[in-house]
Amino acid sequence: MKNLLVTGGAGFIGTNFIYYVQRHYPHINILNLDALTYAGNPDNLSNLPNPDHYHFIQGDIRDAALIEKILLEYQIDTIVHFAAESHVDRSIADPAPFISTNVMGTCNLLEAARKTWKSNDKTGGVKFHHISTDEVFGSLSPNDRPFSEMTPYNPNSPYAASKAASDHFVRAYYRTYGLPVTISNCSNNYGPFQYPEKLIPLIIINALNGKPLPIYGDGKQIRDWLFVIDHCEAIMEILIHGQTGETYCIGGNTQITNLEMVEIICSLLDEKVPTPKYRPHKNLIHFVPDRPGHDRRYAINTNKIKNTLGWQPSKDIISGLSQTIDWYLEHQEWVSTTLHKNNYQMWIQYQYGFNQDGE
Ligand code: NAD
Ligand code: TYD
Repeated sequence: MKNLLVTGGAGFIGTNFIYYVQRHYPHINILNLDALTYAGNPDNLSNLPNPDHYHFIQGDIRDAALIEKILLEYQIDTIVHFAAESHVDRSIADPAPFISTNVMGTCNLLEAARKTWKSNDKTGGVKFHHISTDEVFGSLSPNDRPFSEMTPYNPNSPYAASKAASDHFVRAYYRTYGLPVTISNCSNNYGPFQYPEKLIPLIIINALNGKPLPIYGDGKQIRDWLFVIDHCEAIMEILIHGQTGETYCIGGNTQITNLEMVEIICSLLDEKVPTPKYRPHKNLIHFVPDRPGHDRRYAINTNKIKNTLGWQPSKDIISGLSQTIDWYLEHQEWVSTTLHKNNYQMWIQYQYGFNQDGE
């Protein structure tokens, strides 16, 4: 792996992945292609340890000519495809961008890789890794066994359906054209740089500002949380040692309810905030109407990646959350800039009916 194309590298996981690669594999040249939607922030990458091996292009994965040009000009041998519309609630509000970017955009990338790599007769030494989600498998009941690579697809939200469709195309390009692909289906990530429309940063930031902490429905939905750096490590293991054509499930082996998660964050904040105005923060918890089609439980069986690649999550949830909260406390400027963007304000108003001032 010499010339790596990362799509969506200005978003949450892509940013963490680029830092991870630079720290551990400094010889790799990284090209980050990102359209900079509301979720992308190129300033995330302003403190890279090895800027000479990093290049950013603002562009769209749906732009076929641009992708082909990039693959040729930068002699890309590896693609890690993160770029996506990623928020379930936004997919409920408006599915169209999800179909366009997640399905059409992924197909466009696959086609460009097929044409470019085949026409250059690069049959070996290239790889297309597709980042997917456990949400493609649908919802588990309390006693169901965790999702594995054998679980049939059963997506429930427009987001999950668009990711499922993209996974199918990636697999089809392997079976039909022999494109060297791998796929990973990962559970919910948390950590630094996560856009504060997602549960964990939303709760941290609202709690710090004394705003309501919205919990959908009864708050008993279960997610399997994974610290983002553990995810990055798993992706690199798959890239280096994974088998072409294979799918890998990645998870944190940490199943907790949303209400438990919010209560843990609140008690960590009670301890950490130097002069807490809102202690106990859990008094800010506010139950709101449930998400339509809300999946009840996700859980991942990580045996395959553990047994074949030796990967398992290493960060426990309390220290991962503690590190995440510290990051948000130490990056007030990042938080403030993000919160004051129009798109964020409009989303909070639309989704919760109150603005950042809680009104
Ligand atoms: P994110 O929303 O934070 O970042 C997505 C990035 O993609 C942004 O920088 C955005 O500007 C870019 N992008 C969007 N549309 C684009 C387009 N048409 N062309 C180029 N760039 C575009 O998302 P994330 O949380 O970092 O998720 C990254 C990937 O991981 C997604 O594919 C998501 O489905 C998957 N995933 C996420 C989680 C999670 O918990 N966040 C879990 C499992 C899988
Ligand atoms: P989210 O971070 O949006 O991730 P996903 O929907 O991909 O799992 O949500 C995580 C869980 O938290 C999910 O069950 C929905 C719930 N949730 C709330 O209860 N309140 C909120 O304000 C948000 C954003 C999410």
